[in-house]
Amino acid sequence: MAGGGTCPERVRKVREHIAYARSAKGGQTRQGYSALVNNEATPRVPGSIAPTTRSTTSSCGRHTRVGTSAIAGLGYYLPKDVITNADLSSLVDTSDEWITERTGIHSRRRADKLHATSDLGFSAAAAALEDAHLTADDIDMILVATATPDSPVPATACIVQKMLGAFGAAAMDINAGCSGFLYGLHTADALVRAGAARHVLVIGAEILTRVTDYSDRRTCILFGDGAGACVVSARGVFELLYTGAGADGTQLDLISIPAGGSRSPASNATVAERQHYLKLDGGRVFRQAVRRMVEAGHAALAATGLTSDDIAWAIPHQANARIISAVGEQLGIAVPKVVMDVAEVGNTSAASVPIALARARNAGSFVAGQLILLLAFGAGLTWACQIVRVGEAR
Ligand SMILES: CC(C)(COP(=O)(O)OP(=O)(O)OC[C@H]1O[C@@H](n2cnc3c(N)ncnc32)[C@H](O)[C@@H]1OP(=O)(O)O)[C@@H](O)C(=O)NCCC(=O)NCCS
Repeated sequence: MAGGGTCPERVRKVREHIAYARSAKGGQTRQGYSALVNNEATPRVPGSIAPTTRSTTSSCGRHTRVGTSAIAGLGYYLPKDVITNADLSSLVDTSDEWITERTGIHSRRRADKLHATSDLGFSAAAAALEDAHLTADDIDMILVATATPDSPVPATACIVQKMLGAFGAAAMDINAGCSGFLYGLHTADALVRAGAARHVLVIGAEILTRVTDYSDRRTCILFGDGAGACVVSARGVFELLYTGAGADGTQLDLISIPAGGSRSPASNATVAERQHYLKLDGGRVFRQAVRRMVEAGHAALAATGLTSDDIAWAIPHQANARIISAVGEQLGIAVPKVVMDVAEVGNTSAASVPIALARARNAGSFVAGQLILLLAFGAGLTWACQIVRVGEAR
């Protein structure tokens, strides 16, 4: 991986726009940059979502930006046990060559039988707290993004709260599929900037191997276990410049676990029909993943007045090497600037972006001042995007 340059002029312009928007010059006091941009097209009450032309899809990247937020600490955890392509070839009719060519994945991790998602989330969270030089007592809110909670009730976030001893924190889960961590950042950003929380712990944690059907060669090749976490505070090493999120519930059949909820409670029949495993329509998911992440990236660039040349790194959801490359190409971001972390990790759903971000940071890839585009897509359908600016390392 090689770093790209940022354009200080652009960053200065964004800063000027933010300063302008926060003054009363725009006719609305304390109006943030994103809102300023959108107000050019659609006047509205400060802080509200634009009245719109809503179709079946929605997007809420257009909120008022007041105050600041940043990622103050990062951590991740990957289980030691490895599932190789050769292991899968002994289970289903596939090959290392096919999997490598179609997905870029060589191996993925599997959690210990005794561990649940909260255990992985706890390890990543503890690392993020240490990195942020904070303790569990400092945390006001814990958000756990997961599609594989320890159990439907209680929230895995409450279990992590107990493990950390973060008893001053509220805690809840976010179910936004592979976009969950970025949805968590979107939420944490709003809480911190609104003054409703000083420090929010955002965790993406998954044990996908427990919901993967190892008799289905179209899905079992993709998924692995892991967790990534960050602390969002008013200030930190990755300043959040933009955040947006969207969903399209008309496409909910593309990725699902059909049984185990109120529509289809667990029964002998649902187990026999393998309805508790993750199902996905690979080809349609592939196309939607590329389209939605590219659209989210374009929306972020348009809202901030940046161009793809200003982006030093893109970190898309680590679904599949072909999806990641296609997103980079269609956004005009050269592949060496697109973080590719699927080879030894696979698709870890809500954990994939924070793991990739933390591993790239630990590899020394980032330089102060660089802009990073985070992108995610997942079941729902959901998607989300953030632009962060790398600050000085402590
Ligand atoms: C799953 C995925 C790798 C399949 O790759 P693809 O190129 O779309 O392959 P297709 O599904 O079109 O299948 C092509 C052929 O390969 C076969 N095939 C599928 N999986 C295979 C495997 N593991 N090994 C060998 N052959 C396989 C299919 O049966 C099909 O054969 P056929 O033409 O004889 O019917 C790809 O669609 C994908 O990555 N989709 C996105 C999944 C994802 O990321 N989901 C999570 C998003 S959040």
